[in-house]
Amino acid sequence: MYYPLAKSLLFQFGPERAHEMTIKLMKHTGRTPLNYLYRQNIPDNPVSVMGLDFCNPVGLAAGMDKDGECLDAFGALGFGHLEVGTVTPKAQDGNAKPRLFRLVDAEGIINRMGFNNKGIDYLIQQIKQTKYKGIIGINIGKNFTTPVEQGKDDYLICLEKAYSYASYIAVNISSPNTPGLRTLQYGEALDDLLSALMARRNELATEHGKVVPLAVKIAPDLSDSELEQIADSLVRHGVDGVIATNTTLDRSMVEGLHYAEETGGLSGRPLQNASTVIIRKLHHYLNDQLPIIGVGGIDSAVAAKEKILAGAKLVQIYSGFIYKGPDLIRQISQII
Ligand SMILES: Cc1cc2nc3c(=O)[nH]c(=O)nc-3n(C[C@H](O)[C@H](O)[C@H](O)COP(=O)(O)O)c2cc1C
Repeated sequence: MYYPLAKSLLFQFGPERAHEMTIKLMKHTGRTPLNYLYRQNIPDNPVSVMGLDFCNPVGLAAGMDKDGECLDAFGALGFGHLEVGTVTPKAQDGNAKPRLFRLVDAEGIINRMGFNNKGIDYLIQQIKQTKYKGIIGINIGKNFTTPVEQGKDDYLICLEKAYSYASYIAVNISSPNTPGLRTLQYGEALDDLLSALMARRNELATEHGKVVPLAVKIAPDLSDSELEQIADSLVRHGVDGVIATNTTLDRSMVEGLHYAEETGGLSGRPLQNASTVIIRKLHHYLNDQLPIIGVGGIDSAVAAKEKILAGAKLVQIYSGFIYKGPDLIRQISQII
């Protein structure tokens, strides 16, 4: 792989520009013979989670391919699953730029993208066109303009539209960049959301004759009692899986570094330990009643193994993929 060269070129640009250029290249080459430039043959290491058969345990985390434009390209890289989105009912621009920052020395990223995406209908068009045959998770959220009290309606719209096209659906209630979104993780708000989503999911399962698993994505910034309550709620409502974790608001790991005080969610190596701790505690509270997909700062096979030892059944990568490149997929897939 030529990743060190590609990275040094891409890092000459601002992070969002580099991201746009990469997505554009992958979008236009993914279904063409030019995909040999990055195609990888990752030996199968099958794992069954949420009733789905994954060819290997390493997935692409949400937010990289928000609109599902590069499914063929990311599939060619050898991921065991691709989580697209976060997608919202209507297209939206997200927050003002700049909104993405590299903390290079810490191998971290801060983002406050704010669910920039082309909307659920566009995403579904992309899925209809892809030749990728692997597992697709569709990560759903609410529009910025929808008051959080009505957020449930947005999730229901996305659930309904995504149902036929998703292998699983991820309910994102943990982005720090949509005001109020994280309040959906607590108490009555969570119960209310989950009972509506699970009721509709069960109706759709009957209508379509297939059960699409529903996983909830949580934040790393939760106290023990909050985490215990969330675990209890997920089990009570019969949710199929939990994705832990999203980005953190904590800056203690990057104090003093350039960009450390930028608003947004921090990901990458500074998040690694905090997310593993959350997975370990969650595993304890869940008592193996539903599977955990571990994500947060995985930048090596060892870091992935730590997530598995803490209780995760699958892992996902985002920031580590930026800093370490596609070979990380092979390294992780071989060891876990
Ligand atoms: C630029 C960027 C955009 C992201 N967008 C989303 C998103 O739209 N939805 C989501 O659930 N998570 C999103 N995430 C969070 C990642 O999916 C992941 O949970 C988090 O970054 C921790 O993993 P990592 O340390 O491997 O990056 C985003 C992360 C980054 C860096």
